[in-house]
Amino acid sequence: MHFYQNHSLLNFNTFGLNVNARHFFEFDSENELIEILQHQLIKENPLLVIGQGSNLLFLNDFDGVVLHSAIRGIQVIEETEDAVIIKVGSGVIWDDLVEYCVKQGWSGIENLSLIPGETGAAAIQNIGAYGVEIKDVVQKVNAVRIADGQRGAFELETCRYAYRESVFKKELKGQFIVTSVIIRLSKKTVFNLSYNHLEKEVLKNGAMNLENIRNTIIQVRESKLPDPKVLGNAGSFFMNPVVKRERYKAVQLQYPDMPHYFVSEQEEKIPAGWLIEQCGWKGRTIGNVGVHAKQALVLVNYGGAKGQEIAELAAMIQQSVADMFGINLIPEVNFIS
Ligand code: EPU
Repeated sequence: MHFYQNHSLLNFNTFGLNVNARHFFEFDSENELIEILQHQLIKENPLLVIGQGSNLLFLNDFDGVVLHSAIRGIQVIEETEDAVIIKVGSGVIWDDLVEYCVKQGWSGIENLSLIPGETGAAAIQNIGAYGVEIKDVVQKVNAVRIADGQRGAFELETCRYAYRESVFKKELKGQFIVTSVIIRLSKKTVFNLSYNHLEKEVLKNGAMNLENIRNTIIQVRESKLPDPKVLGNAGSFFMNPVVKRERYKAVQLQYPDMPHYFVSEQEEKIPAGWLIEQCGWKGRTIGNVGVHAKQALVLVNYGGAKGQEIAELAAMIQQSVADMFGINLIPEVNFIS
């Protein structure tokens, strides 16, 4: 267990914001976490549980207790001819897990290559990319209740996963800390290449195998998304809005080439990046912050920005999209004040 005071969060937020946490605990095991939860500081202060902070926007220093999982380890708990079930510590870097599984020849998460963050946060956020979401492979999420240190195990159905949503972000928000995730992967190679031109891209790059799919996904991501180690960002800043069919039809009449995804008879999803680009924001810079030139859904810190500047830019973008399309953009990034 580690405990620090006035601890820099520079390495714990991919926007690269120079903020501090008043108190900072790191735990290596579930037992250590349960011990920490009995600490007086936890009972008296606001609490924030973080992974790598790839989805956080700090508006100020955090005047409370930050908890970070350093529970590592990838353990096979069951194996059959067709499948493998693994237990992954919440502090395992997500892309290290993907790399490891691809090397083992286990399929299921290769499309989620290069997504920043740690496994615990990935399971809370239901990360997704290129036609796959983590919910497609999760069997169970193990967690500890903050109020009393009780262990809980959430089967897939009780996680209530939806697009970038889970029970841990809604009904149970702020109540549990994820300690490990049980994931089921296939030993038979079942690929999911339905996203746009993914299959074509993979074949252009080489053979149809896990390694090549991972490499192709990495190439595609690197061509559009800035590396947070080089340019501070949190990936998609907004969720892609799901709008009522009437609204979609009204916009589509004016913009027949607008990309869109069918959700249900009543609703359609529209890429937020497209909406933001139409409003003229793509590539624009205001002071230390801006909208990425290759993907309008990504807001960037060009260096030295304050969280507030990013929040102000986000608000201006939301206003433009609302004025032009009558659509409200909802941030995917969590604002921490
Ligand atoms: N588009 C534009 N202009 C832009 C960006 C996108 O017109 O500046 C258009 C593209 O041409 C395309 C459509 O919007 O027709 C979709 O773009 P893209 O395939 O790049 O995906 P996205 O909808 O912008 C989502 C996820 C990403 C994920 C990709 C790939 C959300 C909020 N974002 O982005 O996730 O990598 O699909 O599956 O759902 C993240 O969550 O941080 C993230 C990067």
